[in-house]
Amino acid sequence: MKHRSILITGGAGFIGSHLVRHFVRKYPDYRIINLDKLTYAGNLANLKDIENCPNYRFVKGDICDIDAVLALMREEKIDAVIHLAAESHVDRSIKDPFTFARTNVLGTLSLLQAARTVWAELPEGFEGKLFYHISTDEVYGALQMTHPQGIEPPFSTAASSGGHLAYGDRFFTEDLGYDPHSPYSASKASSDHFVRAFHDTYGLPVIVTNCSNNYGPYQFPEKFIPLFINNIKHRKMLPVYGRGENVRDWLYVQDHVRAIDLIFHEGQIARTYNIGGFNEWKNIDVVHLLIETVDRQLGRRPGEDESLISYVTDRAGHDLRYAIDSRRLQSELGWEPELQFEEGMELTVRWYLENEAWLDNVTSGDYLKYYDEMYGNR
Ligand code: NAD
Ligand code: DAU
Repeated sequence: MKHRSILITGGAGFIGSHLVRHFVRKYPDYRIINLDKLTYAGNLANLKDIENCPNYRFVKGDICDIDAVLALMREEKIDAVIHLAAESHVDRSIKDPFTFARTNVLGTLSLLQAARTVWAELPEGFEGKLFYHISTDEVYGALQMTHPQGIEPPFSTAASSGGHLAYGDRFFTEDLGYDPHSPYSASKASSDHFVRAFHDTYGLPVIVTNCSNNYGPYQFPEKFIPLFINNIKHRKMLPVYGRGENVRDWLYVQDHVRAIDLIFHEGQIARTYNIGGFNEWKNIDVVHLLIETVDRQLGRRPGEDESLISYVTDRAGHDLRYAIDSRRLQSELGWEPELQFEEGMELTVRWYLENEAWLDNVTSGDYLKYYDEMYGNR
């Protein structure tokens, strides 16, 4: 295998830390440089087990600082970028859209410009280089719920064949136009456009992937699944937005990481791939599954914590339904998600309950202020 020097941005966050660990362990001949600003969402404890690996280096820095990125790319002779660094939480984007525009739009632009500059200085130019941009399905907007009771999905995977339903007859495909609704998704959509513009204008070799909702260990507990696990554990109220009817398409984080690995090595330049598990769930059904799983793992009476469910004011502009059509990735590159949702939830709940110190650490300090502002001290 060819030696590569890969810059992974946002590698101390949720998905980034799984990706960094995967690449550091699986590819000892690759040098992995993790550039992360360590915002509230970045946590070096996520990478404790690999921090001393000889093919790994962590650099604290801001992707918006183009001079620092240029210097790092030259120093480390970076020949590929996998870009995950972002502000990622929709509720925060509603409160503070500017931070999202800065990091997600200007940060991506600064990385693109740095890659273009540094690679253009080399005798081989862009040959063998790759700028891989990690994006989200939220750029496509929201799908209708044409079948609120659910229908047999028109396609499935081994992992989703357990009788899961689809709640509409349309899905996000790669050729769909963009229609973002939140400041978060608008900023990600804008960054995707810049990435493609750098290919079309300057010939930069790029790939963009748009993935559905991830879940698993190390996800910051402002996001739905870890927030609710932590609240059930501490018997705090479970703030379900609206009527809990919104649908999300959940994918275990390791399945996303395997897809990124495959696309990084075998994906076609300038192509977009959607990543998702054909695994639609209404939020309220996820809440019931979480309560059942946490209560059972803690040895509590079944259903004991159902009374924690509290329907609260809906999120502004709350997208109704996301559902990814990932058949391009399946047919062209042979990717399949491996984990069924119930198995993934079992593992995820166990991880959060066993990693009390990690959870207590990230839910102290500034988190408490954020939590009180969002939900009141309940
Ligand atoms: P996260 O919030 O857990 O992690 C983001 C990381 O980026 C953190 O480590 C943070 O410190 C770092 N960061 C933020 N601003 C930075 C800056 N200016 N410079 C350098 N580092 C910075 O996010 P995540 O959930 O792991 O998502 C990672 C990427 O995947 C994002 O681009 C997100 O849009 C995308 N994505 C996420 C999901 C999901 O369900 N979580 C699904 C699809 C796509
Ligand atoms: O679809 C991919 C996206 O998934 C990623 O790009 C984002 O980075 C990621 O945060 C996620 O966005 P969502 O808004 O779908 O995820 P979140 O975990 O915030 O919410 C999931 C659903 O649960 C959503 O319908 C809102 C609802 N929810 C969320 C929270 C935090 C609640 O009902 N109550 C809550 O307290």
